[in-house]
Amino acid sequence: KAFFMFAIDTYAVLGNPVAHSKSPPIYLSFAQAAGYEINYLKLFVPTGEFASTVDKFRALGAKGINITLPCKGDAYHYATVRSEAAEISQASNCLKFTADGVVHAENFDGVGLIRDIVHNHHTPLTGKRVLILGAGGATRGLLMPLQAEQPASITVCNRDQSRLMALHELLKNKVAFDSCDYPHLKGEYDVVMNATSASLSQVALPLPDKLFAKDALAYELVYGKGLTPFLKQAQAQGVKRVADGVGMLAEQAAEAFHFWYGQRPPTQEVIRMLTVPLR
Ligand code: ATR
Repeated sequence: KAFFMFAIDTYAVLGNPVAHSKSPPIYLSFAQAAGYEINYLKLFVPTGEFASTVDKFRALGAKGINITLPCKGDAYHYATVRSEAAEISQASNCLKFTADGVVHAENFDGVGLIRDIVHNHHTPLTGKRVLILGAGGATRGLLMPLQAEQPASITVCNRDQSRLMALHELLKNKVAFDSCDYPHLKGEYDVVMNATSASLSQVALPLPDKLFAKDALAYELVYGKGLTPFLKQAQAQGVKRVADGVGMLAEQAAEAFHFWYGQRPPTQEVIRMLTVPLR
């Protein structure tokens, strides 16, 4: 039996590293707006100790967790019930613990991204030509919510072609998309998303000229890095509408809050609080 139990609803973000996480102020802000008193902690997960860390936290009466890198796969495996989004991405960024001992896994990164583009950036995706750069975990998570918006076309461009084949296999009968490598990338797109990890290392992608349609939106999934090489490339091609993933971060968190409390908090305040100017 636990030495003590949390007296109020308690959540945490788990990761390695975790010190950089913005989750505590985000959820505290949501809870305050909704009139709830919550605890929100940061828990560092030593390598290989995800399950034991979560077990201990649950034993104290915790209600749920958010998960950041590199623990999203561990969270997926830890869960006993998984949403389709978690299943497709084989990763979870949000767990809910219910009194019956069930651990529910969700993954809100994809819906959060699409919601940010459609609502916060006022860019309906219906009928649009959408290009996604990269075919890793982030792309896996966003294709189903993107398809639900009924774009005119979805194209995924990646260096490694075997990853694209695996993606087609994973999503066959679910999402239809074209794919190519960078040397074969051509055409004009209304929305271009950078879902590669190249921006983390400030590496530019080999993008062709004339990639962006008139009034196109260039969207960088990475958050807080200012004008990344991708966004600079877009601007150099005349793109006026550039965005990073701050809204995605806020929207996936709002989805998680809804998952826990059944109500969706407004996100404007959190977006304002976390925005790092794009320059
Ligand atoms: P995540 O889970 O964040 O999506 P990931 O699964 O490791 O991370 O995927 C990283 C993606 O960034 C991959 O699509 C990778 O391309 P490859 O599959 O060809 O390796 C892409 N990526 C990373 N660095 C890149 C670079 N310098 N140029 C092009 N693509 C890059």
